[in-house]
Amino acid sequence: MTFKYDFLVIGSGIAGMSFALKVAKQGRVAIVCKNSLEEANTFYAQGGIASVTNPWDNFENHIKDTLVAGDGICDATVVEKVVREAPAQIKELISWGVDFDKDEKGNFDLHKEGGHSDFRILHHKDNTGAEIQLSLIEAVKANKNIDVFDHHFAIEILTQHHLGKEVTRYTPGIECYGVYVLDQKTNHIDIFLSKITLMATGGIGCIYKTTTNPLIATGDGIAMVYRAKGEVKDMEFVQFHPTALYHPGDRPSFLITEAMRGYGGVLRTRDGKEFMHKYDERKSLAPRDIVARAIDTEMKNRGDDCVYLDVTHKDPEKTKKHFPNIYEKCLSLGIDITKDYIPVAPAAHYLCGGIAVDLNGESSITRLYANGECACTGLHGANRLASNSLIEAVVYADAAAKHALSKFKEYHFEERIPIWNDEGTSLPEEMVLITQSEKEVGQIMSTYVGIVRSNLRLKRAFDRLDILYAETENLFQRSVVSREICELRNIINVGYLVIRQAMERKESRGLHCTLDYPKKNTPKPSSKEA
Ligand code: FAD
Ligand code: SIN
Repeated sequence: MTFKYDFLVIGSGIAGMSFALKVAKQGRVAIVCKNSLEEANTFYAQGGIASVTNPWDNFENHIKDTLVAGDGICDATVVEKVVREAPAQIKELISWGVDFDKDEKGNFDLHKEGGHSDFRILHHKDNTGAEIQLSLIEAVKANKNIDVFDHHFAIEILTQHHLGKEVTRYTPGIECYGVYVLDQKTNHIDIFLSKITLMATGGIGCIYKTTTNPLIATGDGIAMVYRAKGEVKDMEFVQFHPTALYHPGDRPSFLITEAMRGYGGVLRTRDGKEFMHKYDERKSLAPRDIVARAIDTEMKNRGDDCVYLDVTHKDPEKTKKHFPNIYEKCLSLGIDITKDYIPVAPAAHYLCGGIAVDLNGESSITRLYANGECACTGLHGANRLASNSLIEAVVYADAAAKHALSKFKEYHFEERIPIWNDEGTSLPEEMVLITQSEKEVGQIMSTYVGIVRSNLRLKRAFDRLDILYAETENLFQRSVVSREICELRNIINVGYLVIRQAMERKESRGLHCTLDYPKKNTPKPSSKEA
């Protein structure tokens, strides 16, 4: 089947749905997502969303904190934009039904997280993401101009390549005409034609063995754009959250929000000793790259599998009130956080890089925008400040919507796109060929491309991934398309981009720490492109 929409949105997290709600005022919109509407990184966000709110806080402080965390390579114009436009977008979220906690006086109850100099994190208990996700879903479902295609998997972006023209990374004016989509209920591949496409496919956590991200986070949008010869950058900056609950086998790993350290939680080793003072004067509230490296060092030096977060000195009732979900989750594992230390270890959490976009959210491919975690706006630089991701997504949804609305009437539907050609393919002989390779990618990335890297480790990872790449491309050419083979292909593509861009950065900066180049380069290099 061929579908035609003014706006095609791939992804039903905060980035996709907030854009969809904005452009639906003037055009017909399709939201395509590969699971249910709910299943997205957004749903799992805990801590909250950063925006200057207190009368004694100010934009300059939020800007400074963001720049400091980004370690010298944030785009200052973007930082200004996001911080200054944040309050208006918070109002819009509230108008869509999002409820942020307030104190007894009716003022927003603001949290503080690592790297923030003030209390500016709006939140809904410790499940802010679920509150946002469910509110946006209600608004989307009530909007007659939006059609939802859940359990639909986007496979490839349509460009001039599909009209038989040669497209390389140097071809000027590559255009996006829509996407090939696998309907997972019928196993049929449909053509979705659009005037404007928004890529909002979220993160890449699943390229690692241990991650806080749900299973959808396989970097599909980034891989699709890379294969379509679009620009992808800053992929070496993978953020590891310092405090995922240590409970081996959990996938995703359950997050212990950074807000718990803002609340007074203290990191300790197994013997109860504090250690963060050895690494940073902000101790447990240092930015998360520093905390994650400190924990990694302590674990390696001591041969321990985890460290501990301690909130036992805090008022138990307050702890339960602020962190009800964490309390319940830990209790279900026999840990009463009001009495016991919480075992924690770092886990892959967030990608700062991604599809390069300009101030309008448009990618290097015309008619293709990207937003949210799959996009690289330049806000985060070498390290994202806590709770700056959700706010970036709504600010850029607004910018992209305004720009897309001013352009979409200029474009027409490209009717010449051929149907998907699966001639000569058959069902893969054994599913284990895919599942085993997926596990291997996770092992390779976690072992060699984790918190601390080196030339040797990166080279090892590159060589091993190369073998998996060749095997998988071969399998893909021979197989009937399935979500599983596409996701495997995508995690290999994305893993390759992380490794290659990490190899190219010959310094340690922000989240990229390498034993071979322990210092920062001066003058500061601009971020690289793929
Ligand atoms: P997502 O919300 O991940 O949505 C991605 C969508 O794309 C999904 O609908 C998925 O089905 C769809 N998709 C993917 N691939 C395909 C495909 N091939 N075809 C069709 N659909 C596809 N950030 C903060 O600012 N504050 C926080 O407190 C915070 N806490 C976090 C806690 C956890 C545990 C995690 C994992 C992240 C947290 N983050 C937080 C980060 C933040 O939640 C994410 O960066 C943000 O939600 C990403 O939103 P998104 O819309 O870009 O992607
Ligand atoms: C957290 O709650 O610690 C996560 C916040 C974030 O990822 O921004």
